[in-house]
Amino acid sequence: MHDISLELLGRNLSAPSLGLASVVLVVLSLALFFFQKKVSLKSSALADTATSLLQKTPVAASVPSADKSKVTFLYGTQTGTAERFAKQLKSDLQEQYGDTHEFMVEDIEDYDHEELFPKEQLVFLFLATYGDGDPTDSAIKFHKWITEAAKATTEDGAEQSLTGVRFSIFGLGNKQYEHFAAMGKRVNECMLQLGAKEVAPRGDGDDDEDIDEDFEKWKELLLAKVEEQKIMGGEVSRASTEVKRISLPAYEVQLLAGADPKPTLNMHMMASGNGTAPQSPFLARVSTARELHRPDSERSCFHLEVDMTGSAASYEAGDHVGIYVENSADIVEETCRRLQHSPETVLQFRHPAGNPDRLGTCPSGTVTLRTALAQWADVLSPMRKAAFQKFAECGKEVGGAEGERLRRLAGPEGKEEFAAFVQQPQRCLLEVMQAFPSVHPPLGVFFGCIASRLQPRFYSLSSGPGVNPKSLHVTCAVVNDTVPTGRIHKGVGSCWLACKQPGDRLPSFVRRSAFRLPRQLDVPIVMIGPGTGLAPFRGFMQQRAWLHKKSGKELGPAHLFFGCRKREHDFIYQEELEQWKEEGIISHLHLAFSRAGPEKDYVQHKLKQEAAAVWALIQPEAKGYVYVCGDAKHMAKDVHRELVEMARLACGGSASQGEAALQKLVDLGRYQRDVW
Ligand SMILES: Cc1cc2nc3c(=O)[nH]c(=O)nc-3n(C[C@H](O)[C@H](O)[C@H](O)COP(=O)(O)OP(=O)(O)OC[C@H]3O[C@@H](n4cnc5c(N)ncnc54)[C@H](O)[C@@H]3O)c2cc1C
Ligand SMILES: Cc1cc2nc3c(=O)[nH]c(=O)nc-3n(C[C@H](O)[C@H](O)[C@H](O)COP(=O)(O)O)c2cc1C
Ligand SMILES: *[C@@H]1O[C@H](CO)[C@@H](O)[C@H](O)[C@H]1NC(C)=O
Ligand SMILES: *[C@@H]1O[C@H](CO)[C@@H](O)[C@H](O)[C@H]1NC(C)=O
Repeated sequence: MHDISLELLGRNLSAPSLGLASVVLVVLSLALFFFQKKVSLKSSALADTATSLLQKTPVAASVPSADKSKVTFLYGTQTGTAERFAKQLKSDLQEQYGDTHEFMVEDIEDYDHEELFPKEQLVFLFLATYGDGDPTDSAIKFHKWITEAAKATTEDGAEQSLTGVRFSIFGLGNKQYEHFAAMGKRVNECMLQLGAKEVAPRGDGDDDEDIDEDFEKWKELLLAKVEEQKIMGGEVSRASTEVKRISLPAYEVQLLAGADPKPTLNMHMMASGNGTAPQSPFLARVSTARELHRPDSERSCFHLEVDMTGSAASYEAGDHVGIYVENSADIVEETCRRLQHSPETVLQFRHPAGNPDRLGTCPSGTVTLRTALAQWADVLSPMRKAAFQKFAECGKEVGGAEGERLRRLAGPEGKEEFAAFVQQPQRCLLEVMQAFPSVHPPLGVFFGCIASRLQPRFYSLSSGPGVNPKSLHVTCAVVNDTVPTGRIHKGVGSCWLACKQPGDRLPSFVRRSAFRLPRQLDVPIVMIGPGTGLAPFRGFMQQRAWLHKKSGKELGPAHLFFGCRKREHDFIYQEELEQWKEEGIISHLHLAFSRAGPEKDYVQHKLKQEAAAVWALIQPEAKGYVYVCGDAKHMAKDVHRELVEMARLACGGSASQGEAALQKLVDLGRYQRDVW
């Protein structure tokens, strides 16, 4: 047997404190647990149990559940923020009104909206926006249903189906994207059209600034409205408000010491999946890896071929691959030093006792701290306030200037200092740990609520299924940026992938997109994709060439706008593109080199020069499709502006008429974007 000691407060329990173990265990089991990342974890049931344990004690006369009215919290999340907010609001409302209401938090993906939504009395939605103003994968069905229902009411005079529903929405987004928090806005509008009543105006959270603060503000207003309008009854429960939330969300972590405890688990054990979903990644084999830039280029971009033979995954040109990546060894080792544990420490994670086992999602075997940190913990993303506060909780005992500063930054009076120290320079968790060397979060808390889960990285496939049915091609630019804190940030995923060799394995899955070639080969297409934005167009061309050869059918015009710094440095896939041009797979190749001459030349400039020809192909009365891929924050906006201008000139009208013409193209599915 291994010698098992409980890791509770950051170090192994010494003999005298073992007597406390059971007491502390109870506390742990009461700890509100939630895991911030969704990928493989659905933790609502657990959080529910933990909270209800807290609630039951002080409430004297509880109302039988049949009489309780229901409050529902639905979230559509990709990386867990919306889920965290849903649970936060739920627990705040439960503290105040716990004895008279029943609360349900649910992933919108698992929610039977057609059956249940019209019957809700009070519902709060937390919806993140992805892609190009699109819903998260989990909310696609709900979004489709509600937009269609709203359209039926406004256009066909169908009956309003949500007249009995009161609601409020918190939309999550990032102002750097063109369609800020579009999902929240759109669903809000639909619900109003369907006759639902707003309890409080929609909140929009901006992840580029302080999304936690946006949430707090919205929540305050909402709670005031709920009380003022007596939406959940008049009496705020005194007893319940006195309940203090205990401890921090935490896993139970056992450190297995002693003779040779073998880690039985590689955390990507789940990678024996079939490669069709994030929960089911397939351990794909790298078959080819090569650099795409010429030696003189100061940057790097590489081509990977990932063999999915043996998986159930299939794909179409325009789809994405998701890959679970890992932190580099030096980042893992530095994190271990800050946590004061050896990377070789063998751990076993458990959900706190008393929680339903439906969650089986924290790894069930044993794992080294090295593996857990490499594959699980995001320590380099800009740190959010909520995580900082939990980190600060772990430094309660720290004295002196360090402790004072820690508490100040976490509290309301340190708001500006926090903004200047953490938010503006986008300081990451590891840097925060370095700035507060006396704080050593216990591993259970660290993984439970401080470090968020490392997310899979997505890549637009640069192959077509005709030629490469099982080989997924990836075109990846290496991130190597100096960030505002002065640190050189090596992109977690791109640098990890950059080191891969043929034979290495990648936990991968295919993710379907809506970025698609037209069905007919003779329909004109205009593709705009500088840099790695070229990726899906290489896939399109591969597929077009294959279909053309197979069917002998004629090809319509295909314009490709590509841009990079210099022809001699980073003109990726040059030979292939020139070959396709020669064969007529690409009819027009427009190249913009931004650093070749004195003037910056970008794809939007080339587009402007070709405005008349391009617009003739894609204008609403024509048949052509226009595609944009690559950088969302700058390029896609500039290109969009150019397209609007093109449309405006063509109709001789105003910018808003230009905008309307493009919207028409979007509605027709003929203006598609794959931007990130
Ligand atoms: C649908 C989709 C398709 C995509 N297709 C492609 C593709 O075909 N090719 C491709 O190369 N990429 C593509 N991407 C982007 C890709 O998924 C990754 O985001 C990219 O490889 C960078 O990941 P990384 O882990 O290397 O960088 P990360 O470590 O995630 O860093 C990403 C960026 O954030 C900045 N950053 C990170 N942490 C901090 C910090 N603490 N402070 C300040 N700044 C910070 C970095 O400087 C960098 O600019 C796509 C993304 C999506 C969503
Ligand atoms: C690839 C990608 C695309 C995004 N697209 C948009 C967008 O179009 N509009 C927007 O407001 N926010 C966009 N965002 C920002 C997210 O909505 C925001 O970070 C949000 O807080 C995520 O919430 P979640 O953790 O619940 O998934 C995007 C983020 C990513 C990573
Ligand atoms: C892949 O696995 C998932 C879950 O393990 C399953 O739901 C799905 O049906 C499988 N898909 C195929 C095509 O086998
Ligand atoms: C990253 O950039 C730095 C300077 O900004 C440079 O010295 C270093 O060689 C680059 N590393 C890689 C792997 O490209």
